[in-house]
Amino acid sequence: MPSIVIIYHSASGTTAQLADAIFAGAQELATPSVYRISGTEIIAGRFKNEEIWAQLDQADAIIFGSPTYMGGPSAQFKAFADASGERWSQRAWANKIAAGFTIGSNLNGDQFNTLLSLSVLAAQHGMLWCGVDIPGGYDEQGRNRLGTQLGVAAQSNDGQVNAIDLMTAHYLGMRVAQIALKMGNKPIPKDTP
Ligand SMILES: Cc1cc2nc3c(=O)[nH]c(=O)nc-3n(C[C@H](O)[C@H](O)[C@H](O)COP(=O)(O)O)c2cc1C
Repeated sequence: MPSIVIIYHSASGTTAQLADAIFAGAQELATPSVYRISGTEIIAGRFKNEEIWAQLDQADAIIFGSPTYMGGPSAQFKAFADASGERWSQRAWANKIAAGFTIGSNLNGDQFNTLLSLSVLAAQHGMLWCGVDIPGGYDEQGRNRLGTQLGVAAQSNDGQVNAIDLMTAHYLGMRVAQIALKMGNKPIPKDTP
């Protein structure tokens, strides 16, 4: 079974609810693990945790998550992203599958920009980005209710994530697992055109 690591930051717990829903979706077809970045692991502005770096290096897919803060990822997530530069120079995550999720308190609170940052982070690492292929407004269950195809964009202003956003997150976990299964577990040689 493919291995998937969901790594995210959450201060008040709503991004964590999305991470758990993604975990549950991925669990149907893969072996996921979930990791919440803590402020205490950030030293001089850089995330440090050798164990989690090793796990990420081994994963078939990595799903990034952050709340939307001031129209972008939180500083805690950015400390993780910046510290991943060491992996970037080694192309350690090249050809892994990547996806992302975020939440804001507004329906359109610039969540898209956070997802854009997460997808550019994946591109910097040479990862293969997996979006949400549910057409907003055309799903029987109403998933992808904010109409964002780049990743899961959610909204909450009372600490409880909207049930439909949780369903969208569950779907993304399943989709990443399906794609990881399809790709098999043979690593793609990095210099293959
Ligand atoms: C410093 C800060 C900046 C925020 N900026 C935005 C924003 O730009 N857009 C938005 O919709 N919500 C914004 N919010 C609201 C959070 O994204 C929202 O409360 C989210 O659910 C928090 O995620 P968490 O529960 O995982 O910590 C901001 C909250 C904080 C604390």
